[in-house]
Amino acid sequence: MKKIKIETAFDIYENIKELSFPVQKLLKKAAEARKKAYAPYSQFFVGAALELENGEIISGNNQENASYPSGLCAERTAIYYAGAEFPDQNILRMAIVAGSTKISTTKPIPPCGACRQALSEYEVKQNSNIVLYFMGTSGQIAVSKSVENILPWIFDKSVL
Ligand code: THU
Repeated sequence: MKKIKIETAFDIYENIKELSFPVQKLLKKAAEARKKAYAPYSQFFVGAALELENGEIISGNNQENASYPSGLCAERTAIYYAGAEFPDQNILRMAIVAGSTKISTTKPIPPCGACRQALSEYEVKQNSNIVLYFMGTSGQIAVSKSVENILPWIFDKSVL
C-alpha cells in the first residue's frame, strides 16, 4: 500500500485593488455579467468573464429554466461560447462573481463540481493553466493558479 497526497493552495486577497489592472477589469466584467443573469428560481446570480490570449473578453451568466436541470451555470455559459467562437485561442484566466439576493454572500464562492470538470477540459486541451479568480458580491477574492488545483486527479481524455 502507498498513499497519494495531493496538496492544494489558494491566494486570498482582501481587496480588488491588490490585484493587477487586467484582473480588476475582468472581475468588473464578471460583476456586470452577474447583473444580467437569469436566476428567477434560485435568486443566486453568477457572472463569469474570461480573457483569451488575443485580449478578447467573453462573459456569461447563469441561465435557469423551469425544468431546473436544463439551466446552465455562468462558467459553462462563458467557456462554451469561447470554445464555440474562438476554438484556437488559449484562455488565460476567468473571474467569477456570485451571490444570492436572499442572503449575504461576501465570501469567495468557488465553481461547482460540474463547472470544474467542464473548465478542466479546456485547460487540458490548451495544455496551459487557466487562472481562476472568484469572489462573492464583495469581500475577499480567492485565486486558484489552475483548474486542476481545484479538481485534482481529474478524469480527462488520456483514458479514452
Ligand atoms: N451556479 C453557477 O452559475 N455557477 C456555479 O459554479 C454554481 C451554481 C448557478 C446555477 C444556478 O442557476 C444557481 O447558481 C444556483 O445553483
